[in-house]
Amino acid sequence: METLVKDKSQKQQSSSIDVLLQEGRKFPPSPEFKKQANVQDVSVYAKADQDPETFWAEWAARLEWMKPWKKVLDWNPPHAKWFVGGKINASVNCVDRHVHAGEGHVNRRNKAAIVWEGEPGDSRTLTYWDLYREVNCFANALKQLDVRKGDRVAIYLPMTPEAIIACLACARIGAVHSVVFGGFSAEALRDRIHDAQAKLVITADYGWRRGKQILLKNAVDDAIKDCPSVKHVVIVKRDGSSATTCHVKEGRDHWWHRLMQDAELVCEPAEMDAEDMLYILYTSGTTGKPKGIVHTTGGYLTGVYATTQWVFDLKEEDVFWCTADIGWVTGHSYVVYGPLASGATVFIYEGAPDWPEKDRFWKLIEKYGVTIFYTAPTAIRAFMKWGDEWPARANLSTLRLLGSVGEPINPEAWVWYQHHIGKGKCPVVDTWWQTETGSIMITPLPGITTTKPGSATKAFPGISAEVLDEMGHRIDVGGGYVAITKPWPAMLRTIYGDDERYVTQYWSKWKNNVYFPGDGVKRDEEGDFWFLGRVDDVMNVAGHRIGTMEVESALVDHHAVAEAAVVSRRHDVKGEAIVAFVTLREHAKKSSHLVQDLRDHVVKKIGALARPDEILFSADLPKTRSGKIMRRLLRDIAEGKALGDMTTLADPTVIEHLKQKYEEIEGS
Ligand code: PRX
Repeated sequence: METLVKDKSQKQQSSSIDVLLQEGRKFPPSPEFKKQANVQDVSVYAKADQDPETFWAEWAARLEWMKPWKKVLDWNPPHAKWFVGGKINASVNCVDRHVHAGEGHVNRRNKAAIVWEGEPGDSRTLTYWDLYREVNCFANALKQLDVRKGDRVAIYLPMTPEAIIACLACARIGAVHSVVFGGFSAEALRDRIHDAQAKLVITADYGWRRGKQILLKNAVDDAIKDCPSVKHVVIVKRDGSSATTCHVKEGRDHWWHRLMQDAELVCEPAEMDAEDMLYILYTSGTTGKPKGIVHTTGGYLTGVYATTQWVFDLKEEDVFWCTADIGWVTGHSYVVYGPLASGATVFIYEGAPDWPEKDRFWKLIEKYGVTIFYTAPTAIRAFMKWGDEWPARANLSTLRLLGSVGEPINPEAWVWYQHHIGKGKCPVVDTWWQTETGSIMITPLPGITTTKPGSATKAFPGISAEVLDEMGHRIDVGGGYVAITKPWPAMLRTIYGDDERYVTQYWSKWKNNVYFPGDGVKRDEEGDFWFLGRVDDVMNVAGHRIGTMEVESALVDHHAVAEAAVVSRRHDVKGEAIVAFVTLREHAKKSSHLVQDLRDHVVKKIGALARPDEILFSADLPKTRSGKIMRRLLRDIAEGKALGDMTTLADPTVIEHLKQKYEEIEGS
């Protein structure tokens, strides 16, 4: 395993570094932007560096606490407690404090909190007062359904305001939410519900995607057949005027709107410890089983609040659009908690960027006057491919800042984004972070950082990041692994139900007080970070994190499959595409029908996001003498590269045959 990891990182890094080294363009902040920026003085870095605890405590103090903390940090590596003894409620910070007039508060009662457009074009605006009312009422509804502090609630919803309301209502009563992306299959949902032992599921009859109804409630019905922990299901009726399309089980299933009719307006917020769980979010790792990343309340809110203010240069009048679905961490941190804790106007959209036409996003920006736009490189590459004419037709003059997240952004996509969307006047912030880190870690600060296409630049103030080699030696200039050397407030606290995996996965590569994110990176002479991709068996397909082992498990679950090895190869738009090498059982016959069947099987087990682009049948897979599949050689084949070191192979002819076969298929 260790050698595989090393091999992949070295290979990927050397080829990516070659490309990136040619990148010399620099974009300093414009004087106009700098003049109005939230951060104008580079001394913020040195100040935070000298005393990170005070830096973070100053940010925490800007939140509303029910009881003050006694100690900023209790660091017992690798376990951290931030704001020890402090009591706080996340929903109070995201809603109540904006609707109450008072000293130190801007009254935002009538300000738009959420502006939403559905894919068919329906829209709604909720002021902060509206959001306050909805969150309170739904919190009371949850209580009526016997949800208590500490209980887990699964959320499987389309991007509608209810997704945000549901999260905040859980937070209000101290229930732990576990949002599952609506694109995951019923089986993936079942595994996540089961692992968290969720008591209640919140879903919708359906959501819209590319003009089709995605029947979420049907998937929930399938998922919870095997989940005895689930006592109730709440169903949002996506479209009030349409006929009901889903089954409603008497006593177990409840319509959201009916519950809300009877719910009382005020729900006292639960007094939560700073270290009480706010949510669990499942993400892929290097095994077949997704990890439940645990985030707590006080530190997490502090991290997302600080980064929202400084990275996005947020102002009172901004309209902030982060295109991430609520099912991913970006949706949690920069659709819900960061912007709403800041009292921002958040825009959300339900559907696809190319529906009904490829200019939907640009039309939305024009229509709602979006000022800050945060999206993923895979989307940017798709926009580039669709053609410059689509954004050119819209008025994008309200935009003042652009962001990128989720995967390395290639310099050409960065420059296209800056030119065609930002019209040369918007700073671009390429933000590196993870589900585990909770908040943005490495990023420009738009008023002071000179940006470079392809570089996420510097660690956010108060974050200590370095490049280390395999042995943990620091690399000042050159390639290696990114490492976080001090705890930070929004860091994950553990993996739900598996603290051992938390320790081995993240804190055991070097010393147990250094966090290993699993990314390869290069540092240039100016100290800027250039991310190169994962160094482990985690793929990043269209900005979605998927474990190779998860896809392999899904494939071997099929009756025709004896063994499978999954790798990824570069893809122009998706960043990476999935390639599966499959050995069939004796009775099974190769056919295009079987290829389709295997693809469908993966979709059924995980979701459409994990569908392999290519499936190749092989009588054998390349293995070491100890029987381990050598994925690195399969990756070479999928990338069309010369085969690397084969000395440890048990039978080199296997890989030669496979390569030949792959090239024949590619060439045909
Ligand atoms: O490999 C890095 C990549 O996405 C991984 C984290 O994925 P996830 O937990 O799903 O969170 C995505 C959204 C925060 C990282 O380990 N990644 C994320 N942002 C960047 C990135 N790679 C390069 N540049 C980025 N800006």
